[in-house]
Amino acid sequence: TVLVVDFGAQYAQLIARRVREARVYSEIVPHSMPVAEMLAKNPKAIILSGGPSSVYADGAPAVERELFEAGVPVFGICYGFQAMALAMGGTVAHTGLREYGRTPMRVSQPGSTLFEGVPGGPSVWMSHGDSVSEAPEGFTVTADTDGAPVAAFECDERRLYGVQYHPEVLHSEHGQQVLEHFLYRGAGLAPSWTTSNVVEESVEAVRARVGSKKVICALSGGVDSAVAAALVQKAVGSQLTCVFVDHGLLRKGEAEQVEKDFVAATGVQLKVVDAQERFLTALAGVADPEQKRKIIGREFIRVFEQASREVVEEAGATGEPVEFLVQGTLYPDVVESGGGTGTANIKSHHNVGGLPEDMQFQLVEPLRRLFKDEVRMVGLELGLPPEIVWRQPFPGPGLGIRIVGEVTRERLELLREADAIARAELSAAGLDRDIWQCPVVLLADVRSVGVQGDGRTYGHPVVLRPVSSEDAMTADWSRVPYDVLAKISTRITNEVADVNRVVLDVTSKPPGTIEWE
Ligand code: XMP
Repeated sequence: TVLVVDFGAQYAQLIARRVREARVYSEIVPHSMPVAEMLAKNPKAIILSGGPSSVYADGAPAVERELFEAGVPVFGICYGFQAMALAMGGTVAHTGLREYGRTPMRVSQPGSTLFEGVPGGPSVWMSHGDSVSEAPEGFTVTADTDGAPVAAFECDERRLYGVQYHPEVLHSEHGQQVLEHFLYRGAGLAPSWTTSNVVEESVEAVRARVGSKKVICALSGGVDSAVAAALVQKAVGSQLTCVFVDHGLLRKGEAEQVEKDFVAATGVQLKVVDAQERFLTALAGVADPEQKRKIIGREFIRVFEQASREVVEEAGATGEPVEFLVQGTLYPDVVESGGGTGTANIKSHHNVGGLPEDMQFQLVEPLRRLFKDEVRMVGLELGLPPEIVWRQPFPGPGLGIRIVGEVTRERLELLREADAIARAELSAAGLDRDIWQCPVVLLADVRSVGVQGDGRTYGHPVVLRPVSSEDAMTADWSRVPYDVLAKISTRITNEVADVNRVVLDVTSKPPGTIEWE
């Protein structure tokens, strides 16, 4: 394990992901964890993340020197770099020079452990106030910038390395290479953490936990619950029963994907509950987004409770109680809910799959250690169809929060058609991997005048909201080529009755959220 010590910036998760992209297993720990406890985890290497802008900032946490003297290779990044400098006897100075954003850097030691093969002047992503002005004794300065006389240093003898910039962000040229140099050359690690190992270990862990008991799982149609269920199925086979609540707010073809493709790929026992009527009735007359979310969440839980009671009763008749519930919790959820750090809770979790607290099940969370991209890899390894594995994130409340206004059967039909066209054209243009997700929103309470054929129309606009993102916390609107947008617009206005206008949302997040409601 490589420990990534989180100093409270959002970069720690990114670093952990990059380490895993180098096929080395990593885990995030909070900086408040005592050094002895970190060392007790037997880390093969430790990476100190960025954090406050300076070691002299208010409340900036210090790093105990013993961390650097345990013989474990350490890589200090940004704040972690300054903390290492200070702990080892270097100097961090108030230079008054700040560097933020893209910065040209001079590599002065091109043959060093970190910079071997990196061209002399990469541009790197900086974010610091104070700077290291003198490296600790025994350390070689390997790079500098205009604002940072010591932009990187290393001490091979003690296996301590550091950089002032952020190699983990994509804007830093050769960032991944530098990180890999630390892991492979500095710490002597091998790239051995592979998807097939992950599957094997997870299957073993589920078997050990569940034994011969029965397990239940709510499938949402999304990637996470599908992969979690497929893993558990691989581990304990027919001890698992999946429940799929069709609330009628899914996109075109998605219910079929779960009922046919998923079952075909995994052989899982599936109980489908058709609750479309019930959800429509509960949503009748409701236009307020929060209200809609609450209703959908509440109904989902009721339907799932009823279905799970039936599963439990059937199992009870055979004398094998259902004791476990599968959840598709991912590593970022674990870290953000305090499992990893004191970082502010940025996004509250609102999964419709989030189940009632009074249910008497123990949780099985086979994806707790994985990031989203790793979950997809595991899904592919388990043989799930690409349509499921590469599905865009889709909110639990589904199309219910993509109709601005009351949700009705007719409006759902319209939106489903428009959404299917947008998805098909984006896929055909090969844009699936560039776009994080593209909500299509029906402005049901807005009408616009149009002319189609020879007549005036008075229909509704739909909004295209293509965004690019790495984690949905921030996002930018995607620059979809005009000809693709034109095709989508033409097809939607021609093929979807009552929609006479297609508009494009060009707002980043923040300030706009990804969904409209
Ligand atoms: P926002 O709209 O907050 O969305 O920028 C961020 C990400 O979360 C998804 N989302 C939801 N997912 N239940 C969910 O399970 C919800 O109520 C919900 N609201 C938004 C959204 O699709 C995006 O990926």
